[in-house]
Amino acid sequence: MSTRPEILEQLVERLGRHALLDDPAEMARYTSDWAGDRLGMPLAVVRPASTAEVAEVVTLCRRHAVRMVPQGGHTGLVAGALPEADGGELVISLERLNRIREIDPVNFTMTVDAGCVLETVKQAAAEHDCDFPLSLGAQGSCQIGGNIATNAGGLNVLRHGMMRQLVLGLEVVLPDGRIWDGLDALHKDNRGYALDQLLLGSEGTLGIVTAAVLRLCPLPDQSRTALLGLPSVEAVVDLYGLARRGCSDLLTAFELIPRRCIELAMEATPSLRDPMDAPHPWYVLMEVAATGPVDLGAMIEQLVEKGMERDLILDGVLAGSEAQAQQLWQFRESMLEGQRRRGEHLRTDISVPISTIPAFVDAASRAVMAESPDCEIIAYGHAGDGNLHFNILPPRDMAEADKRDHLHALETTLFEVLDGFGGSLSAEHGIGRTKQAAYLARLSPVERELAEGIKALFDPDGLMNPGRILPAPKA
Ligand code: FAD
Ligand code: LAC
Ligand code: ZN
Repeated sequence: MSTRPEILEQLVERLGRHALLDDPAEMARYTSDWAGDRLGMPLAVVRPASTAEVAEVVTLCRRHAVRMVPQGGHTGLVAGALPEADGGELVISLERLNRIREIDPVNFTMTVDAGCVLETVKQAAAEHDCDFPLSLGAQGSCQIGGNIATNAGGLNVLRHGMMRQLVLGLEVVLPDGRIWDGLDALHKDNRGYALDQLLLGSEGTLGIVTAAVLRLCPLPDQSRTALLGLPSVEAVVDLYGLARRGCSDLLTAFELIPRRCIELAMEATPSLRDPMDAPHPWYVLMEVAATGPVDLGAMIEQLVEKGMERDLILDGVLAGSEAQAQQLWQFRESMLEGQRRRGEHLRTDISVPISTIPAFVDAASRAVMAESPDCEIIAYGHAGDGNLHFNILPPRDMAEADKRDHLHALETTLFEVLDGFGGSLSAEHGIGRTKQAAYLARLSPVERELAEGIKALFDPDGLMNPGRILPAPKA
């Protein structure tokens, strides 16, 4: 006789045996994220293959009062898609909802299942001479549904906006099992409240996104990439001002990289060579892209000339080919792997007004170093959006058991400095579980009431990804 809980029997009956995983070895892959974090085993993992099947799963969960965790490519960085340690949550993986439903290159839209991997979506758009411009290091694994749920940003936000600006319509399975079909492909639509926008950045707490209409743009037919060495963060921000004005709206990326990240990238990818003759304290990786008869080469050369005249740029590498450009981007990708290899560290995704980046980096660095002189600060990120990953590696000789508390104390210090700059403690990765306490501590009573009201409206039973963003309802 089977000992499976009744809901699992019913899931097998409705969706077939292949859709359900409840063997610990099979489930292991769904219980940890890119960073290697893991809390515990779920009740089971279910892998529906259609919107109707997702609705069936959700309806059954509601009937049996089972908590649900929507899961995409598990590359999220705030533990939102990890099942709770108590073994009571059902992971609903969207990986089998992976059809490109339609591409309309005249309307510049595409309709995709939520489980499509971002890279696949970008390739499919490119086949129609279109670009889906969301780009991030995890694009080979993360899914469109996860990008929507986290309102992902990435490398091209300064030109194309975050996921919020790239979604025109959504199909969602609500926490009571109803399907909400809002798959409109309209570039302008002002009918009442923008309900679909509530799902952007909702981290799986308001419903399960099953499909989306995405906004495309023309596929650039030319681009230029440069890695530049700079003396200071002030110079980086001054150069940004020149670049925004000198490159019209064609600037697609403006990434800040400290020297330490170039070293971490070379450690992680030994084939990478130091990009310039001498090391520089700061680097900017920038890109311009366009279609049509625009002289991007002249544009970027003029910018570099001006930057050198004003002593903002010390040295630089202009990629002469697509392969060279990719090599420069390899630094940006490999430095993440370099940090990951250092094990436990503090990852943040803060934002401040762009004009205050130098003062913030200075104040935050002083405060953190005063408390932990042997830690390493790695402040890099999307300078053109005012969004920095002000990460901290603990002192090398610190005992493993002490690292977590130490980093938590440094995070508190960092966020206090951030408050003084009117900054955000999450510009990209969301709240999930890891930022919840700091987020709630800064939420005004009126904001908290509105947030709880929205959650209660969508999910009165509190079964949809509970405990992420807001605390789980008391049992
Ligand atoms: P998951 O990790 O599976 O889930 C994330 C959250 O979304 C969870 O709360 C989950 O419950 C929910 N969710 C997932 N799918 C659905 C769905 N269909 N419906 C409802 N809820 C759902 N982020 C940036 O913004 N910019 C970056 O530059 C960036 N770079 C990254 C680089 C690396 C190497 C890594 C590992 C991560 C990076 N991220 C970045 C983090 C980013 O949030 C994720 O990569 C991505 O958006 C999450 O997608 P996912 O499919 O992996 O979601
Ligand atoms: C990045 C991710 C971690 O920008 O957001 O590298
Ligand atoms: Zn980022």
